Amino acid sequence: MRSSAGLDIPYVNLRAQYAAEKDEIHAIVDRVFGKADFILGEAIGEFEAKLARRFGFEHVVALNSGTDALMLAMLAFEIGRGDEVITQSNSFVASAATIVQVGARPVFVDVKPDQLIDPAKIEAAITPRTKAIMPVHLTGRVCDMPAIQEIADRHGLKVIEDAAQSIGSTLLDRQAGAWGDAAGFSLHPLKNLNAAGDAGFLTTRHVEVAERIRKLRNHGQSDRNTVAEWGVNSRLDTLQAALLLMRLDKLDTIIAKRRTNVDLYRRLLDTRHVFHPPCRQEEFNTFHTFVVQVDRRDELREHLHASGIGSAIHYPIPIHLQPAAAKLGCKPGDLPATERQAGRILSLPIHQYLTEGEIQRVADTVNGFFR
Ligand SMILES: Cc1ncc(COP(=O)(O)O)c(C=O)c1O
Repeated sequence: MRSSAGLDIPYVNLRAQYAAEKDEIHAIVDRVFGKADFILGEAIGEFEAKLARRFGFEHVVALNSGTDALMLAMLAFEIGRGDEVITQSNSFVASAATIVQVGARPVFVDVKPDQLIDPAKIEAAITPRTKAIMPVHLTGRVCDMPAIQEIADRHGLKVIEDAAQSIGSTLLDRQAGAWGDAAGFSLHPLKNLNAAGDAGFLTTRHVEVAERIRKLRNHGQSDRNTVAEWGVNSRLDTLQAALLLMRLDKLDTIIAKRRTNVDLYRRLLDTRHVFHPPCRQEEFNTFHTFVVQVDRRDELREHLHASGIGSAIHYPIPIHLQPAAAKLGCKPGDLPATERQAGRILSLPIHQYLTEGEIQRVADTVNGFFR
């Protein structure tokens, strides 16, 4: 991302968050250091239980990143060498990288105008090697899960939701992360519920998967002296869990403010030039990002920057066209909607510290550019 130095409307504002929470954060640091239970301390179990209660998840396992949550879910379902997992290419690299990491092959399917995987295209990508579908609830919007689940059930596939960007989002009143066999959430500093570093968690409806991942995250140990199977170190720090417990209480307010910001943008932005996919009536969108689709995207981004306004692109190069993906044999033109959107998408500032006046200024600047 380009530097936010000198911008008076930055894309994110983590310093404002610190200023607002300084006393609470210092009290948390004092408490955790006082107890010195830095690894798998009390706050971990409390955080897992609170997430389960708050969102109705059956099992929650706190981990040190969303990436590990996706990777461990696949390990727990024995997905590996020779297997294929269907996902989308317009995501953060971790969606596909975790598939590669367990030895399997990502198979990319194109997306709809709302940037979510197109269920109508999934079936053609299924082969005898397909083991799972990984829909990505990109931008805070839940994929068409009833259609995806129906396909998965018919073909005997697992569904692993990449819910990294969608804590609190729902479709048909059901939470992101409560649809599939398992889901991975990210609590990266730029997410709506954010840690002060890397953090994540996994949800699953299978008790044996939760129990296995609880061991896998701690070197496969079933107790202090017994290694039941080879695992990894993917423990969430107690300090992060304690911070996240405090921030979880504020999540509803943060989401409400982001939704209010989007309502305002929608009223102000000139829809002749700026496309934002409408929300479906049955969805609750938490707007991890507010991504518009425009012509002359790069010029607009320069213009915003010159006017003191930060923005971001999530993501400018689809995963299937990254150098790392060369061996997968994909080529430009394979995913027309994904590739077209990659040149048109722009994430506008939407964080909870924006004022109405600032949103007005962003919208005026965007509209002014096209006038
Ligand atoms: C869609 C998506 N998947 C996976 C991840 C990986 O999460 P983390 O950064 O916590 O490892 C992210 C985080 O940026 C993401 O946005």
